[in-house]
Amino acid sequence: MIKKIVCDSYEDACRYAADIYAGQLKAKPDSVLGLATGSTPIGLYNELISRSRAGLIDFSRARTFNLDEYYPIKATHPQSYRAFMEEHLFSKVKFADTRIMNGETADPHAECAGYDAQIEAAGGFDLLLLGIGVNGHIAFIEPAASYPLGSYLVDLAEDTIVANSRFFSEDETQPVIALSMGLSPIFMAKRILMFVSGANKADIIKKLFDGYLHTDLPASFLHLHPDVTIVLDKAASGE
Ligand code: PGA
Repeated sequence: MIKKIVCDSYEDACRYAADIYAGQLKAKPDSVLGLATGSTPIGLYNELISRSRAGLIDFSRARTFNLDEYYPIKATHPQSYRAFMEEHLFSKVKFADTRIMNGETADPHAECAGYDAQIEAAGGFDLLLLGIGVNGHIAFIEPAASYPLGSYLVDLAEDTIVANSRFFSEDETQPVIALSMGLSPIFMAKRILMFVSGANKADIIKKLFDGYLHTDLPASFLHLHPDVTIVLDKAASGE
């Protein structure tokens, strides 16, 4: 079941989503949160930073796990998702613990299995944030004929590589492989917030709500989860 909230603007969508965090952290200060990277959550993170600075939300007891990381990539690489999270959120808001898969590991399969075990030991997610790729991916779960249940090493789809090339300069090698959270930890989340913005997502959002579960649209599996809210701006809604 996906509850759809269409906001007039991106700014309104950021405030709406931030209200969900405010409610969640008030109800459970030691919440386990799943966090996402990409352009879309930046405004939401800025809103969370302002509210945290104003004393309106306290994340100091919350623990976070990010959805994915490029592989291989050094944590200090400016385009690593560790660096992204440090820049856009973790350097500005205090959390009890922040975890992201290690893009430098020599054993990616063990890294994935260990990550799933850590999420499970934490009790799973209280609130998990997802974006959606132009090809319908969630985390880096790219459209495929079959899907690993656990977190896994994934070949990025051509659409994803093209979409993310905007972040890499010409002299930087863009990773074409990533470590992605799998469907099991995602579906164990008590509550999922999908946050989407921009006209370039309108086509995939239209397909997401066409009344079908598409095997080649990983986001459509969310229709099977009991508590998903999608917050989107008008441009992404196609309205
Ligand atoms: P974006 O990424 O917010 O940069 O569009 C979303 C995604 O690929 O999941």
